[in-house]
Formats: sequence, structure tokens, C-alpha cells
Amino acid sequence: MNQSVNYHLLAISGSLRQASLNTVLARALSKIAPDDVFVSAITLHDIPLYNADADGASPPKGVRDLRNAITACDGLILVSPEYNYGMPGVLKNALDWASRPAFASVLKNKPVLIVTATPSLTGGSRAHAQLRETLAGTLSRVVAMRQVTIAGIDQKLDGGRLNNPDTIQFLQDALTNVVHEIKMVRSASA
Ligand code: FNR
Repeated sequence: MNQSVNYHLLAISGSLRQASLNTVLARALSKIAPDDVFVSAITLHDIPLYNADADGASPPKGVRDLRNAITACDGLILVSPEYNYGMPGVLKNALDWASRPAFASVLKNKPVLIVTATPSLTGGSRAHAQLRETLAGTLSRVVAMRQVTIAGIDQKLDGGRLNNPDTIQFLQDALTNVVHEIKMVRSASA
């Protein structure tokens, strides 16, 4: 990571599909981020289905890694498709793991930007709304801004890069808003 980086953002893709557009988008964010922002991207392949019996002193390794990665980052970006008018189960499942222990989890006070992207015209706005509601149960700080929904994402990515100037600007504004939220969290805990 370069020396001038002040903000580490973790982008989590809500799709397991190998050719996922959302995973490509999550990875592409690092290429449009400001110089002082580092964005790393992960997928949720190693997260088992939530089982409270397994959520004791030694949770599954994939879950430990996820919780550690969330702790280590300054802000989260959820980059997700919409499945049947809601968020994919893999993402809800991961948020359930990340949300424990309740109200004292790694999500508490964590700035979170919600991004949904679909090839359709709606851009996943219903998954977006569902994610916001789920995050309300985690005490995370959902970044307040216009819904970041990206319609026609299949037309806006080219060789792993975003190619649409308006979309790039919208996402850059969103990253700036995450940084603003991180600064608020830092000043509140200083
Ligand atoms: C979809 N898709 C979809 N799209 C949408 O805009 N609204 C929806 O409700 C749904 N529902 C849905 C259900 C299921 C089970 C699948 C597999 C797909 C289409 C979806 O947005 C599209 O396949 C995306 O490309 C999936 O995201 P990734 O895998 O490309 O990131």
C-alpha cells in the first residue's frame, strides 16, 4: 500500500459468479479512487451458512478472516446484484456472521457504502433498500447519499474498467462521501 494512503476501504462483492459484474465493479473501484484511498475487494466464497452453534469462541476460518478484514478497514463498500427483488442470500448470510455479537460487532460504527449494480434498468434499487434495512440492525453508519444504483452495468465495464464518465463521477462522489463519514468517526473517537 502506498505511503500516502489514509483510508482503506474494503469492497465486498455480493456475487459468487466467476464472471460477476459486481465483482469486476468492486475491483474497478481501486482504479477510480482518490490517491489517498486504497480499495481492496473480496468475495464471499469461504463463508459457510450462518449457524449460531458454530459462532462461539472459534468461528469458521472464513468468518474469522471476514471479521478481521472488516475490523482492519476504515470503511466498507457492499457491491451487490439484486436477486428476486432483494439482496443475494450470500450477502445477507455474511452480514449475519459479521453482525455478531449483536450491537458490539465489527460492523458497529463502521461506515458502509451500499452499491447495487444490475444489467437491468432498476440497478438493484430493491436490494439496495433491503441492505439498508439489514444494516440498521448492525449499528453501522450507512453513508447518507443518493442511492448508488447502477443500471446497465454490463454496458459500463470494459476490460475491468469503468467506461462511463457519469458513472465514474457518481462513484467518485460516493467514495468521497465514505471518506467524509470516516473522518466523522475518527473525530468522534479522538
Ligand atoms: C437475477 N437478476 C435480477 N436482476 C434485477 O435487476 N432484479 C432482480 O430481481 C433479479 N433477480 C435475479 C435472480 C437471480 C436468482 C439471478 C441469478 C439473477 C439478474 C442479475 O441482476 C444479473 O444476473 C447480474 O448480472 C448478477 O450479478 P453478477 O453476478 O453479474 O454480479
